[in-house]
Amino acid sequence: MPLAATELVAPDVYWVGAIDWSVRVFHGYHTDEGTSYNAYLLMDEEVTLIDTVKVQFGLELLERIKQITFLDSVKYVIMNHAENDHSGALPFLMTQLKNATIVTNKICMEHLILLYPSLKNYPFKIVNNSTQLQLKTHTIHFLQVPMLHWPDSMFSYCAETNILFSNDGFGQHIACSERFMDQIAQKDHIIHLMREYSANILGPFQVPLATALDNAKGLKIDMILTAHGISWRGDYLGMALNEYIQFSQNKQMQKKLTVVFQSMNGAVKKAAQIIMQGSQHPVQFCDLAITDLTKCALSAYESEFLAIGSPTYYGQTTPLVESAIHYLRGLSLIKGRKVMLFGSFCWSDKAVLSMKQMIENAGGTVVSEISFKMGVNEITQAALINDLKKFV
Ligand code: FEO
Repeated sequence: MPLAATELVAPDVYWVGAIDWSVRVFHGYHTDEGTSYNAYLLMDEEVTLIDTVKVQFGLELLERIKQITFLDSVKYVIMNHAENDHSGALPFLMTQLKNATIVTNKICMEHLILLYPSLKNYPFKIVNNSTQLQLKTHTIHFLQVPMLHWPDSMFSYCAETNILFSNDGFGQHIACSERFMDQIAQKDHIIHLMREYSANILGPFQVPLATALDNAKGLKIDMILTAHGISWRGDYLGMALNEYIQFSQNKQMQKKLTVVFQSMNGAVKKAAQIIMQGSQHPVQFCDLAITDLTKCALSAYESEFLAIGSPTYYGQTTPLVESAIHYLRGLSLIKGRKVMLFGSFCWSDKAVLSMKQMIENAGGTVVSEISFKMGVNEITQAALINDLKKFV
């Protein structure tokens, strides 16, 4: 595949990242549409690279930088976050950028050296919220955003151009040749992917997000350049900020029901269908046999109500249901929700009890527990319909 061109995305700022059209699993997150690792080259007399790319795209990044400038002219590499999708190429890159200093916060430096011990041989400049990186004609400020989504996460801000380099913030997992929201025809789809990203990456971190948004209030922002997917400028800046404000305030949770279940012989699936048909609220149906947890998480993120079903399987719930509860609990997508539990059994009624313990440990409120032996009869059906009224 030919190398995607570098692109001038703002005065003095080139996109030099990489598009990963093929990645489908990203530490468990199912990236059905691939992703990108956006890195930016700020052209100043002191050339500055902002973020790098995943290791296998290191040569691409290097070639793109070479299309714009001499490698020896790169004076700084700002690392906003140590996770390997943004740092994997850094050790190789530093062997090529002979005059570069790595600019990052103290925690990120520690993470980078633990991940890539060879980096301890290179110069670091440690920054924090009160430190500026003064280039010849640009000034870079730093905004620490710990737990968005690692302790080392930070944003960088160029005071002369009002550009926020937000790394994972405001991003989405999509591989595409467009760079900005105003170039996208199906804008709702990008918002959908942004929410999917929030649900699966930022889920537990609404408080740090609210703090970060508060700290960023004083900045005049004309452009947000993300490290994944689409970036934001012009009229669409407000759309990106609004999404995060809504998320930080839990306002994207609606009166919606997500039904998560696994069925072995059809009984639990039949109960799930009765719940779906009887719900007075919009429903998302997550049959774990065919629905991946990434999609489940997005639906749970938007749902005030959950219904979770499992057959009893060797004295407990099934592995897939346990795994789903584990995943949703980690992302804080059970906490604060009303949960209906339903389950079938043959000789030992254990699944619902097992799920109840997990849900209560995760901060959910169990409003209904319905077990049924072998199959769904009229009494069970009536109980399911009746208990749905608790979702009001
Ligand atoms: Fe895109 Fe946290 O890495």
